[in-house]
Amino acid sequence: MDGPEGVWNRGEIRTEIWRVDAAVPEPEVIGRAAEVIRGGGLVAFPTETVYGLGANALDGRAVRRIFQVKGRPADNPLIVHVAGVGEVQDLVAELPPVALRLAERFWPGPLTLILPAASRVPREVTAGLDTVAVRMPAHAVALALIRAAGVPIAAPSANISGRPSPTTAAHVARDLGGKIEVILDGGPAPVGVESTVLDLTSDLPTILRPGGVTAEELAGVLGAVKAGPGETPRPRSPGMKYRHYAPRGTVILVEGEPAAQVLAIRELARRHASRRVVVLAAEENVCAYPGLTVVSYGPRRDLREVARRLFEALRRCDELGAEVVLAEGTERRGLGLAVSDRLRRAAAQVVHAPEGV
Ligand code: TXA
Ligand code: MG
Repeated sequence: MDGPEGVWNRGEIRTEIWRVDAAVPEPEVIGRAAEVIRGGGLVAFPTETVYGLGANALDGRAVRRIFQVKGRPADNPLIVHVAGVGEVQDLVAELPPVALRLAERFWPGPLTLILPAASRVPREVTAGLDTVAVRMPAHAVALALIRAAGVPIAAPSANISGRPSPTTAAHVARDLGGKIEVILDGGPAPVGVESTVLDLTSDLPTILRPGGVTAEELAGVLGAVKAGPGETPRPRSPGMKYRHYAPRGTVILVEGEPAAQVLAIRELARRHASRRVVVLAAEENVCAYPGLTVVSYGPRRDLREVARRLFEALRRCDELGAEVVLAEGTERRGLGLAVSDRLRRAAAQVVHAPEGV
């Protein structure tokens, strides 16, 4: 292996960035990263959704460090990543047939299943719940790393808690450089939003977090699927109660018909003219805001691309020094539901643009 692509020397520890081929990961690079995992260290790695911050899921101490470096609330459990359905057996108390059916259809892929936890799963992973989240990622680097480590890997998104999830190694370095041992750079994450979290321990399978596998696709296999609890007083998915994905500026999300959104955002921009305003808009509308700074999240007609670019666009608003981000909403269908969920949770305020103005 050549030297590291980059080294971060300014923090508490030295972070090395190692380039790895996303299609055919070099065994030597993977082997060294796996050693770090087995030794109780932290390795950030690409998955198809976003970059994860990995530790040996069976090592409570290593997992505790994930919470420390992210600044993550201790009551927010982690997803355990496996390299095959067979490995789930050791992590769960019960594997219902519906879980196998879903795994067969959607794994490897952006679907996380909530199942009754086996007692050997450390309470640091489950945050004390009696359930565990499991998924098999569709990324050669992630799968090679899990296999080489020989243990399941617990991994949240590799960002500081509350910040947009990282879709490149550079995003990870900006948030966690100087705090973790290794970042594997396998290029941009192809899906761009996190996995769908599906609870299989309630009466009806329930989506706790919309994500890369759409509700429509799940309904195709399950028949009925319940839409998540959203912001209920006692969320079943603890992560859902925190504000998330937020750039440093205040996000105001404008929903409604696209044309009405544009008018409402122009009006809001006038109202906030004394502050540094950035408009976060669909590609089709970048010219609709003369005199304003506009960041595009991709074309409205291609929600896959919007999903891929969303978190990068939110981080770009930071780089531009935005104090107020005025964001155009997307439709809440297909992948648009996951995008819209991220925008809503980044927002301090959601406005519905009046129609027919
Ligand atoms: O795509 C993804 O899922 C990425 C990549 C790295 O795999 N991971 C990710 O992890 O987004 P994280 O920690 O950022 O989000 C995990 C979500 C949180 O909302 C958490 O509350 C929920 O899954 N979760 C984890 N274990 C759970 C459990 N036992 N019951 C309910 N929700 C759970
Ligand atoms: Mg996260």
